[in-house]
Amino acid sequence: MSFHGVSREAVMGSATLGLVFITGYYIGKSRSRRYSMNTFKSHVGLKNEPIMQYLLNHSMREHPALKKLRLKTLEHKWNCMMVACEQSQLMANLARLITAKKAIEIGVYTGYNTLSIALALPEEGKVVACDVSEEYTNIGRPFWKEAGVEHKIDLRLQPALETLDELLAAGEAETFDFVFIDADKENYDNYYEKSLQLLRKGGIIAIDNVLWGGRVMNPAEDDLETQAIDKLNKKLHTDVRVTLSMLTVGDGLTLAFKL
Ligand SMILES: C[S@@+](CC[C@H](N)C(=O)[O-])C[C@H]1O[C@@H](n2cnc3c(N)ncnc32)[C@H](O)[C@@H]1O
Ligand SMILES: *[C@@H]1O[C@H](CO)[C@@H](O)[C@H](O)[C@H]1NC(C)=O
Repeated sequence: MSFHGVSREAVMGSATLGLVFITGYYIGKSRSRRYSMNTFKSHVGLKNEPIMQYLLNHSMREHPALKKLRLKTLEHKWNCMMVACEQSQLMANLARLITAKKAIEIGVYTGYNTLSIALALPEEGKVVACDVSEEYTNIGRPFWKEAGVEHKIDLRLQPALETLDELLAAGEAETFDFVFIDADKENYDNYYEKSLQLLRKGGIIAIDNVLWGGRVMNPAEDDLETQAIDKLNKKLHTDVRVTLSMLTVGDGLTLAFKL
């Protein structure tokens, strides 16, 4: 038995200090792998990190219905798809900052972020919520109602591209303030281009999963999802139509501010 070429005898001979060191080394190694190949989400990659618990303990101000929806979604088998609550709160604050009235959610799942953004909009505000799954969105609906913002949410159950095209055809170009792109990755560039048309100047497009668990650094040849994300990341880097930030919150979040 050897640890990276170190003999068992040498390890045993190094007494307690050595064993503590080696244990620490292996914990450290698995941690750094988890950081790079997973996500920074509070309920996935960094779930058990005290520093993340500290952050949540000292910053989250969830509406009671939002908290209930988060806990309900954590019981669902695909809960890793849910937006991180700390990221959702950031996006709601950005929407408030620009006094957003109209938003689009591309990829709703159980509707945590849809509810969060609806709560940040004024009474006459509207979120166009795009998803293809009635099953997932049905989980969230009762909580939208409980929070009293159901009337602000316009759920459209069909491929998101169709909904975006309908909005453009209805003359709603340049009228939206905030878009969150978080659905199928192969369509990310299409979502971005249509969102940019729908957005007013000074509006914000937030794009989720831009680090994709680290896979964007080296996309596999047959991995079309990762390739699509990486391609959009590269395009955005030099896109003069927007100013840009890429954040290490959640699974990586790009903010594009329309000029
Ligand atoms: C990562 S989840 C969205 C998470 C959500 N933003 C939240 O706040 O938790 C992605 C969602 O995109 C939906 N989706 C996949 N393909 C789609 C498409 N072509 N059009 C609309 N929604 C789609 C899936 O049904 C899934 O619910
Ligand atoms: C966070 O809050 C929980 C619940 O109050 C508490 O048990 C935990 O010790 C706190 N952790 C940190 C790191 O603040």
